[in-house]
Amino acid sequence: MSAPVRFALLGASGRMGQAVMDAVVGQDGIQVTAALVRPGSASFGKVTHGLTYTCDIAQALAQADVLVDFSLPESTAQALEACLKASKPLVTGVTGMDEALKARLAQAGKRIPVLAAPNMSLGVALLLRMVEQAATVLGQDFDIEVSEAHHRHKKDAPSGTALALAEAMARARGSVPVVPGTDRRGIREPGSIGFSVVRAGDIVGEHTVLFAGTGERLELSHRAQSRATFAHGALRAARWIAGKPAGLYKLSDTL
Ligand SMILES: NC(=O)c1ccc[n+]([C@@H]2O[C@H](COP(=O)([O-])OP(=O)(O)OC[C@H]3O[C@@H](n4cnc5c(N)ncnc54)[C@H](OP(=O)(O)O)[C@@H]3O)[C@@H](O)[C@H]2O)c1
Repeated sequence: MSAPVRFALLGASGRMGQAVMDAVVGQDGIQVTAALVRPGSASFGKVTHGLTYTCDIAQALAQADVLVDFSLPESTAQALEACLKASKPLVTGVTGMDEALKARLAQAGKRIPVLAAPNMSLGVALLLRMVEQAATVLGQDFDIEVSEAHHRHKKDAPSGTALALAEAMARARGSVPVVPGTDRRGIREPGSIGFSVVRAGDIVGEHTVLFAGTGERLELSHRAQSRATFAHGALRAARWIAGKPAGLYKLSDTL
């Protein structure tokens, strides 16, 4: 039997971090070896799932095969540097990254394996493929609206998943205007891709892509019922990426 894949978890005290810690319990072939938080975090030094929260990424990577990141964009750059130094793969589920950080991930993919997925659910990986096909077939006569709903604590909007869906459809259709904000005053540009956002309660994550033509509408929806869905996707990604060559990967590459 091969040795389990060991991973260090950045953002371990957060909502997603805790879901990953829960999901790994009782799993064969994968093991969490470090619970990392922000320097100065209220969790520092406390114990979770038998591990003490620490903040030394380099030290954690010395005993891990992969770094899994569910922190926030400001620490993802630091996580990436640590992975490059240690020549270890990075799996990041962080959203709200700016273009500079995305470019750094792409650059790092030339030296180490990097898997970045704004949504770690398999259903969304499939939805990304489905919306591409729908956008291509339905063409410019259909307006596209990406609606998403998340819990009241989510910081970025539109969600990383909504942006990834829009980008996939824009690529599939050629040059399509993507309306980046959610302020929708004025008439709609024909064939454009817009966003609608809800932030409320404890909604885990819902995405609907509406294709609205004349006289007909097509809607494709995904609803995550619990964070365990994303956590299991991240474990799948961590298992998959260990030992892979350098590259910038997506969750759908693991399907
Ligand atoms: N890809 C997906 O499927 C998916 C699904 C859900 C959420 N997300 C994304 O995952 C990220 C985390 O979401 P969440 O809801 O778990 O957020 P959260 O509850 O706010 O947790 C954020 C975590 O990051 C840590 N952190 C913040 N700054 C840090 C730093 N500079 N260095 C190290 N750790 C730092 C926090 O530690 P302390 O507060 O203890 O300091 C906390 O553990 C967000 O970007 C979210 O959009 C992705």
